[in-house]
Formats: sequence, C-alpha cells, structure tokens
Amino acid sequence: MNKRFYVTTAIDYVNGQPHLGHAYEKVITDVIARARRSFGEEVFFLTGTDEHGQKVQQAAQAEGKSPQAYCDELTAKFQAMAATLNVSNDDFVRTTQSRHKAVVAAMLNKLHAQGDIYKAPYRGWYSWKEETFLTDKDRGPDGTFDPFWGEVKELVEENWYFRMSQHQSWLIEYLEANPTFVQPDYRRNEVLGFLKAEKLADLCISRPKARLSWGIPLPFDPDYVNYVWFDALTNYYSIPVALGDAGAAAPLGEHYVPGPGQTPPVPGIRLWPADLHVIGKDIIKFHAVYWPIMLKATGIPLPKQVLVHGWWQKDGAKMSKTTGNVVDPIAVVKEWGVDAFRYYVVRELDIGPDGNWTDSGFKARYTAELANGLGNLVNRSLSMLRRYRQGIVPARSDELAPDLGKAACQLFGQLKASELQAALVTIWGVVNRANQYVDQTAPFKLAKDPAQASRLDEVLYNLAETCRVLAVMLWPFLPDTAVKIFQQLALPGAPDKLAGTTWGGLPAGHQIGEPQPLFPRKD
Ligand code: MSP
Repeated sequence: MNKRFYVTTAIDYVNGQPHLGHAYEKVITDVIARARRSFGEEVFFLTGTDEHGQKVQQAAQAEGKSPQAYCDELTAKFQAMAATLNVSNDDFVRTTQSRHKAVVAAMLNKLHAQGDIYKAPYRGWYSWKEETFLTDKDRGPDGTFDPFWGEVKELVEENWYFRMSQHQSWLIEYLEANPTFVQPDYRRNEVLGFLKAEKLADLCISRPKARLSWGIPLPFDPDYVNYVWFDALTNYYSIPVALGDAGAAAPLGEHYVPGPGQTPPVPGIRLWPADLHVIGKDIIKFHAVYWPIMLKATGIPLPKQVLVHGWWQKDGAKMSKTTGNVVDPIAVVKEWGVDAFRYYVVRELDIGPDGNWTDSGFKARYTAELANGLGNLVNRSLSMLRRYRQGIVPARSDELAPDLGKAACQLFGQLKASELQAALVTIWGVVNRANQYVDQTAPFKLAKDPAQASRLDEVLYNLAETCRVLAVMLWPFLPDTAVKIFQQLALPGAPDKLAGTTWGGLPAGHQIGEPQPLFPRKD
C-alpha cells in the first residue's frame, strides 16, 4: 500500500461545548483532505478529542460526573458536530482509548530507558486554574500574579523531566534548513525568534497523582500521571502505530505492547510521517518545539508541515460564553445549510491571520456569492436548457474551455499549497465569468430568433458544461452542493475527482434533470 497523505487537526479539549474555532479548524482540514482525494491521492484524515488533564477533571467535578462519563458525553457532541459539518475524517482518536495509551507508554518507556527522562525536585509558584508553574516573569509590576491565573500557591514537588534543552540548537538549524516546516512564514519566524531569545528548559512531563489522577500513568512510576500535552501530542503518532503502520512502530522496538481492545490492524497501512498538522496559533510552541523534539529524541521521523491558522472573533471581540458573544456552528448550519457555513469560514478567513465573524457579513456573502452568484448561474443555465432544448445537451462547444482550463490549473496549485481562500476566489472567477457570459450572449433573446438556433446551442452547451466543471471544482469545499449540481445535471458518479475538470465531459444528447435552487434567497 502507498504511503497515504496523512493530515490531522488539533484534538479538542472536552472541557466545554464545541464552538466556531473547533468547527473552523475541522472544515479547513476537511477541505485539504478532500482536495487531496480529488487529486487521486490516498488520504488519512485524523481528528479527535483531548480528554485528560486538570481542566477536564475539574469540568467533570463541577458537573458531579466521573471524568470518563463526562468525556463520553462531550466527545459525542464533538463527533456530532464533525458529522453535521460533513467532515470526512477516517478515524477519531480519543486520548482515553487504550490503543492510544499503549503508544504513549511505549514512548515514555523508550525515553526513560535511554536516560532522556529523569526525576528532580521542583519548587515554584503553581496556578491551579491553568495547571502550570509560574515564574517571576509572570508577575505584574506590583509583584502579584494576574487574576487570570486564579489561585497561585508555592509548591515543592518531585517530578519527572524530559531532557529537551539539549535539542535547542538542532531545532533552530532544522527550522532554518526546512522553511516549510512551519507555515505561514511569519509563524515560523515567531518560533525561531523565541528559540533564539530564550534558553529552553527541560520539560516537566509528570503530575503527581495526589493532585491530578485523570491522566495516563507513567509506566515506570505509578505515583505519577503523564503531563497532558505529552499525552495529547502523541495522538498524531499513536493512531498510525495502533492501526498497524509497521514503519511507524519500528522506532519503539520492544517498548510497544499493544493495549487491550486494540482496533484490528489495517494490512499494509503506511501513514507516518504525517504530512500536515493543522493547528491554531495559540498552540504553536507545543507543535513546533515540543513535538519535534519528542520525536527526534525517540528516533521517530518528523512530520512534514505544521500549518497554523488564526483565531476568530465575533463582532470584533473575543468569543466568550459568559458574555454570550459566541457563534454556534450547529445553529448556523440549521438556518443556512452546511455549505453556507463551510463557504463563509473558508472564504472570509485566509489560513494565517485572525478573522472576524459578523452575521451581516455572513448574510452578505450568502446573498451575493452563493444565492445570486453560484445558485443563480446553475439555476438559470439548467432552466434555459430545459425551456429551449427540453433539457437535452446540444453538441459540444468550447467557447469557455480556455477560461475554465486556466482556472482548473490555478486551482490545482492553490489546493496543493493549502491556499483555500485563494482557491475559492479562483472558482468564483469562473462563476462570475459564466454569469457575465449569460448577460453578454443573452440566450433569452437568441431563443426568439430561429436564425440563431445554432448560436443558442453553443451558449447552452457552454453554460451546462461550466456547471458540471464547477461541481468538480467545488467538491472539496461544498461537497453537498457539488453532488446536487451533478444530480440536477442527471450525471452518474460523483464530482469527486479533479481530473473531471477537463472540458467536454457532458455528452451531447444527454438528458439533464430538474433544476432546484441551491441557495434559496432569504429576504
Ligand atoms: N487540546 C488542545 C490541542 C491538543 S493538540 C495535540 C487544545 N484544544 S482546544 O479545544 O482548546 O483547541 C483546539 C483547536 O481549536 C486549537 O487548534 C485552537 O487553536 C483552535 N481554536 C480554539 N478557539 C479558536 C478560535 N476562536 N478561532 C480559531 N481557532 C480556535 O488546544
């Protein structure tokens, strides 16, 4: 089996309800995964939930539930949201699964056996709320800690440390030699800036069970559980190993012992190294510093790329449950349809900078670009074909072929580079060109003049074929809409291969189906 294009999202904390940020990351990753499938590549798309740690333990306690019961409930909501958004993940990892825990234990055992993990006492100021030790740098000018940190107490603890500091210069060199490892460039520069300015400390990878029991036990010291970030990052690698990717498992050697309740291995599966980790800007240090060092130290090849997206605000302010300033993706999908949601988030926000959700901006794009743009084009093209030619496709004509060929070529490059916003601009270039073509050729006038019958045939062919090509182009972004266009054209198969953008796929004499509005106007 060939190595698959392996793409991941961050795994979501289950200490609250899924929101726009979670939904956005899943949608952009889904578009990338579908785009690769439409190139004909084999893809493996992983998403999931991050279920251990203090935040989850506290959230469960607050609801009077056992952590596992609490996680089961919330994970079901994250899974339901992914399904509602038409996210085409191949697997869903939960860090409480034994298949994942077995790999975390193996990595810890190997690092321990190599002497990369050691025990040492630590005295420091501890924030219970944020589950982290603070330093003097976290103190305000008056010497106190910001209320953000909640209760801060001095704590002396023995803990286990991972020797991370010794890899600092290697990582700097690696990031400099591999400029695409972290993208966009300004995010990579941020990581390099940090690595050059500060000395990396060794990473505390344990929490005493006495204060946190909800985690993966350290296999070599039962009084401790694993630090949640070490556990969580490993998900990207644990699932390939659990699914039977022999090359992935090899570096773990005899340290890896599959857990009980293991999913049956997929014969010949090859996933690792991951091709792409899609994450938000707040967790870049974990993915571009801790994760590569963890892998390097364990002797595991590094992922190819970490792609960092920005954060959404609503109406120019941080989204917050307490002020009610939130966007509920499920409610938006119920009112406007899943493809309207997918379209808006990808079109509005390029992968990189921060974005701002406004309901008026959403409605404006829906009306102009979906209803009046794409929807109107498909509806009038198909309606005219039915009205003037009983829905029978005329002989092939290539008037718009050069424009569409150019767009398809551009689109391929943009999809390959994960430039999703630009890719939608390219597709809407086609939508606008075709709508302009209707206005310029005025088929409703041609239809009144019998001498213009063959010109009308040409125009109707170009429009119907453009609709077919658009369905193929749209599939990674708006899969339901793409399928609907194919259905209205009464075409067999699915619009799910980019090769289908080649002009001339609509055969003369083919009978199309009934046009239906794709994006009903809501006034
Ligand atoms: N559990 C960790 C990730 C572990 S990955 C090994 C975590 N979870 S999270 O639920 O807080 O965030 C999950 C993802 O959602 C992150 O990539 C984060 O950046 C993203 N977002 C959370 N809020 C967001 C916005 N308001 N806007 C866009 N993305 C946001 O971090």
